Amino acid sequence: MTRSTVRCGIAVTALLAVGEGRLGAQFPAGGPYSQADIQVGARVFASQCVVCHGATGNLVAGVDLRSGRFNRASNDGELMQIVMEGVKGTAMPAFTFTPAELTGVIAYLRNMRDFNAGAAALGNPERGRTIFEGSGRCATCHRVNGKGPRLAPDLSRVGSLRTADMIERAVVAPSSALNFENRSVRAVMRDGKTIAGRRLNEDTYTVQIIDEQEYLVSLTKADLREYTVIEKPSMPAYKGTLSSQDISDVVAYLLTLRGQR
Ligand code: HEC
Ligand code: HEC
Repeated sequence: MTRSTVRCGIAVTALLAVGEGRLGAQFPAGGPYSQADIQVGARVFASQCVVCHGATGNLVAGVDLRSGRFNRASNDGELMQIVMEGVKGTAMPAFTFTPAELTGVIAYLRNMRDFNAGAAALGNPERGRTIFEGSGRCATCHRVNGKGPRLAPDLSRVGSLRTADMIERAVVAPSSALNFENRSVRAVMRDGKTIAGRRLNEDTYTVQIIDEQEYLVSLTKADLREYTVIEKPSMPAYKGTLSSQDISDVVAYLLTLRGQR
């Protein structure tokens, strides 16, 4: 499996978990939805949905998106389906969204009534980029579009793989957001040589690591004297270091990263 297939798999699982976990349940507005997702959804709604539904969500006859009641959906899974497939025979089109956008739109539809665009700290991607490359020091570890070191995960496609909430958690509290393929590992060979780096992939017999010199190393486990996966993240927690506006801006910037075309 290539690295990108591994990553896509994770994103899709997360998406299904959102859909299925909430299926059939009655959720109070605001309950399980993160502010970061709602903000992303508000942005998407303003650019893609307002033309027909209006900012207040009631321009289509017989539809009132803000009311929290839907004619055609009684749970988030059905809402997602409407947005992804459209409503045949009506003007409601099908949309192709990233996981972040789709999760955001659903979170926003569920919270439209209480959402106060003025009060919410909508992230500014331009400012986020400045923080990422400057005061946040993110670019000293992360690579984006071919620029930067390889020791931390390459974030060039993070905007098409993760939701706003996942990115925010990765920045604010990395230990709650660790991904399998991002763990640091330490291997000691039979001759005592130690290799430390970031795990890219692992199966029963081998493990692939990006070592500290940024080389891809494939190790056969039978050749190792010791192999440790370090559970503590090497990514620093930015809660308290960056303001919540800074974090919103950085998240908004990362969501624009969809890979180079
Ligand atoms: C080109 C016009 C158009 C656009 C753009 C549009 N919609 Fe719709 N939408 C409609 C129409 C018309 C209906 C009513 C379909 C019907 O008759 O049930 C609808 C229905 C819906 C419903 C079902 C409402 C219910 O009560 O069951 C949801 C949810 C919805 N739209 C969400 C969205 C979202 C989210 C977007 C933006 C990502 C969007 N729509 C963009 C025209 C549009
Ligand atoms: C000291 C190096 C370092 C710095 C500085 C750093 N990171 Fe990280 N980051 C990592 C590592 C390593 C990981 C992989 C998980 C782990 O080990 O914590 C990671 C994980 C992430 C992830 C999750 C990636 C994924 O695939 O889901 C995001 C998002 C992220 N970092 C964003 C940032 C942002 C934004 C900043 C600056 C505000 C930043 N990082 C600063 C090392 C760093």
